[in-house]
Amino acid sequence: MKKVGIIGVGKYLPKKVLTNADLERMVDTSDEWITTRTGIKERRIASNKEATSDLAIKAAKDALEDAKLAPEKLELIIVATITPDMPFPSVASIVQNAIGAKDAAAFDISAACAGFVYALSTAQQFIQSGTYKNALVIGSEVLSSITDWKDRNTCVLFGDGSGAAVLSAVKSGGMLATYLGVDGSRADLLMLPGGGSRNPASPETIANKMHYIKMQGNELFKLAVTLMADAAQVALKKAGLECKDVDLVIPHQANIRIIMAMAKKLKLPEEKIFLNIAKYGNMSSASTATALCEAVKEGRIKKGDIVLLDAFGAGLVWGACVIEW
Ligand code: ACO
Repeated sequence: MKKVGIIGVGKYLPKKVLTNADLERMVDTSDEWITTRTGIKERRIASNKEATSDLAIKAAKDALEDAKLAPEKLELIIVATITPDMPFPSVASIVQNAIGAKDAAAFDISAACAGFVYALSTAQQFIQSGTYKNALVIGSEVLSSITDWKDRNTCVLFGDGSGAAVLSAVKSGGMLATYLGVDGSRADLLMLPGGGSRNPASPETIANKMHYIKMQGNELFKLAVTLMADAAQVALKKAGLECKDVDLVIPHQANIRIIMAMAKKLKLPEEKIFLNIAKYGNMSSASTATALCEAVKEGRIKKGDIVLLDAFGAGLVWGACVIEW
């Protein structure tokens, strides 16, 4: 079995910044409420000319440059997203064409906020088995397109962005263990009910606002803390490690209180937790992807460090991944 490592990272965030002060003018909310309840100060919003693939293409090019890998060398592209440009073709096929990865297979994965971890784990299997040499994994979202900007319960939480990683066979270290899970019995807690085969788009689905995120935040909050802590422990055990061995945790950035409660459960000190939620809010699959990129670029991850990615989202899905950098 080959060892699989991340040899390059990239990101792209849309230019437009939406601050809590801007939201105060849109719904009945306050900077104080958003900051203390979520840790979010601002988020990025895609322009009306930018779809998920546009963000993904820029993050992909950034990651390939970082990896010093020509796109022709890619054999696999996986895009994790819940906001594809359209139901089909996949975002991955649009990215494949745009970056000129002429020899790559490409597909999308739908695992919400855990999508980037699911995609990393999937790509790992292809490289580990020797099927492919190089893979590109992207988490990309335009959540602003499925956000009800009149619903203060959800619109303050989400943002748009994209992060990418290039995976390849490495001589030592790399991905030590991954753990993926799902509890479909609680799928009702977070969903976008309209526009699929259950409720195809119609004047009624639009009138009933079924094309927007519906979330029971309170219930999710409690589950997120437990499931993220459990996922971390299972993945670390599979890697033969303990929490104290971790140098940096890259958690899904849904809510700073979820992250800190999870850290407390695992007895992880705050300085070992990477945060970018204040700048970007919750970008679903793009949260862990951009956070990993920023942690590397900011020098928070050094060669030999043990990095733990840990995510949770709609499904309910969860995924954790232990990497020796
Ligand atoms: N501004 C002001 N008040 C608000 C706002 C707002 N933006 N939103 C809600 N409130 C009010 C509510 O109406 C409620 O008022 P009430 O007591 O008069 O009814 C009060 O604040 C408290 O509401 P709660 O829902 O209990 O607030 P909570 O502390 O739980 O925070 C939040 C809400 C931020 C949504 C939190 O529950 C959360 O982060 N949940 C988890 C979200 C998550 O993890 N999602 C999964 C990943 S997302 C993905 O996969 C795409």
